[in-house]
Parts: sequence; structure tokens; C-alpha cells
Amino acid sequence: MELGLNGRVAVVTGASRGIGTAILRSLRDEGATVVNLDIRSPGSGRVGDLDLTCDVTSPSEVESAVSEIDDTYGRIDVLVNNAGIMVEAPAESIEMAVWRRVFEVNVEGVLNMCQAVAPIMKRQAWGRIVNAASFAAIVPSVGSSAYAASKAAVVQLSRTLASELGPWGITVNSYAPGMVPTEMNGFEGLAPAMRDAKLDQLAIRRWGTPEEVAQAVTFLASECAGYITGSLLDVSGGKLATQSPSTAYAAPYAGGA
Ligand SMILES: NC(=O)c1ccc[n+]([C@@H]2O[C@H](COP(=O)([O-])OP(=O)(O)OC[C@H]3O[C@@H](n4cnc5c(N)ncnc54)[C@H](O)[C@@H]3O)[C@@H](O)[C@H]2O)c1
Repeated sequence: MELGLNGRVAVVTGASRGIGTAILRSLRDEGATVVNLDIRSPGSGRVGDLDLTCDVTSPSEVESAVSEIDDTYGRIDVLVNNAGIMVEAPAESIEMAVWRRVFEVNVEGVLNMCQAVAPIMKRQAWGRIVNAASFAAIVPSVGSSAYAASKAAVVQLSRTLASELGPWGITVNSYAPGMVPTEMNGFEGLAPAMRDAKLDQLAIRRWGTPEEVAQAVTFLASECAGYITGSLLDVSGGKLATQSPSTAYAAPYAGGA
């Protein structure tokens, strides 16, 4: 399948580490010029063709970064809003400042980026916007109130934008990764019992990799996904696809028997 990303210019937020770095590499492997916008510098040198320090919650920083990209490359074809933060706290007692910061990064950050990039994509009459939601937007976990609510907001913002930008040939989709061990969630360090409880929720009973999420995002960003918009792509290994997926790993089901 020819993805048609050769020569495209792609911006990925939060690509200095984690899933974002894998998305950046995947888009570059398909021939795109890639730009990383992150509040922190990449740990080991450069990850994008251009790496810009930018806090996506700041409309002025976003505006100036997007102008710099437009001045440098003359276009922006793909925007992946990957930057996000996760906080765990009970809804009953979460501090309002913490709640607001989660919404600032996860929701307003996406909106700031879309508002800055949409005029450029409209000018081109072509664009792909792909937004990181989470499986928490579908089924939240205990302690995830701010995070889950913010990611549900991303899904509905994406669906609204899909209709508003459709007339200019711009698609807007979101995706729900899970469960990919990164610095955000610390899954690698879980005690065996907790790890097994999490893996027992999955039809594909193993952790996901950043590259598996990146491949799904790259498809949504491609020419091939031109008739897909307003959708939420579940990239979670079939989390809770059935009530007790782990039973399929017990005899007599295991191994496809
Ligand atoms: N890892 C998972 O299993 C998982 C599951 C569901 C959803 N997600 C989502 O995928 C995305 C990436 O997750 P990850 O696990 O790679 O996280 P991560 O913490 O490893 O990476 C997030 C990146 O976003 C950047 N960032 C944070 N705040 C920013 C800001 N204000 N401005 C610019 N950049 C900022 C960070 O510096 C970091 O480089 C997030 O939106 C996350 O919510 C991840």
C-alpha cells in the first residue's frame, strides 16, 4: 500500500520521548519531513528534522512555532497532537489546579495547535489531524477522572473539527492507545500481580509497543485514510473487547484449539 506521505510536512507534538518519538520516526520512514514540538528537549540530540521547544498550552508559543514551520517548509500537511499528561487522583479530592492543568495540556493544547494549523491546511485544501485520546475515553479507571474526562473531550473535539474542516479536504481523527509502557505510566515497573491484572484485560495479552501505535497513526495521517474522519481508532490490544478476555488463554481455547 502506498501511503502517499512522501514529501509531506508533519508536525508531532510531544515527540521528544515515548510514543511521540515512534510516531515521528514512522512518518519519516514514509518520506515525510518531520517536526517535533515539545516542552522538553529530546534526551539524545535531535529527533525531528526540526525540533522546537514549545508549550502547547501557550497560544503565543504555538503561534510562533507554527509560523516558523510554515516559513521554513511552506506547508503543514499532518498534525499529530500526541502531547499529553496523566495525573491520578480521586475525583472527590483532586485539586482544581491539577484538574485544570490536565485539561490545559490534553484539551486546550490540542485546540491551540488545531487553531494555528487549520488556516494553513485550508490554504492547501488538504490536511490530516490525528489526536491522541486514550482507552480511558472509552472506559475510565479508578483515579483517572481528570485524565479520562480530558481524553473524552479530545474525542468530541476531534469529531466536531472533522465536520467543520471537512469542506477543505481535512480529516480529523483520534486514537486510543493502551497499554504501552512509557515514562508516563511506569508500567515496566509494576509488581507481577498488578501487571497480570492489567494484561488479563487484553485480547492480545501483552504490552503494546510505541511502534504499533505509530503505525496506526501513520495510516490515519496518510492518503489512504482519506475517507476516514471523525473516528476513534482503538489501538489497545482489544482491551475489554470481551468481559473476560483472559479465559481464551486457558485450555481448551489457548492456541486456537
Ligand atoms: N502510553 C500509553 O499506554 C498511553 C495510553 C493512552 C494514551 N496515551 C497518550 O499518548 C500520548 C503519549 O503518551 P506517552 O505514554 O508517550 O507519554 P510520555 O509522557 O512518554 O510523552 C509525552 C510527551 O508530551 C510532552 N509534553 C507534555 N506536556 C507538554 C506541553 N505542555 N507542551 C508540549 N509537550 C508536552 C512531554 O514532554 C513528552 O515528551 C499522550 O497523549 C497519552 O495521554 C498513552
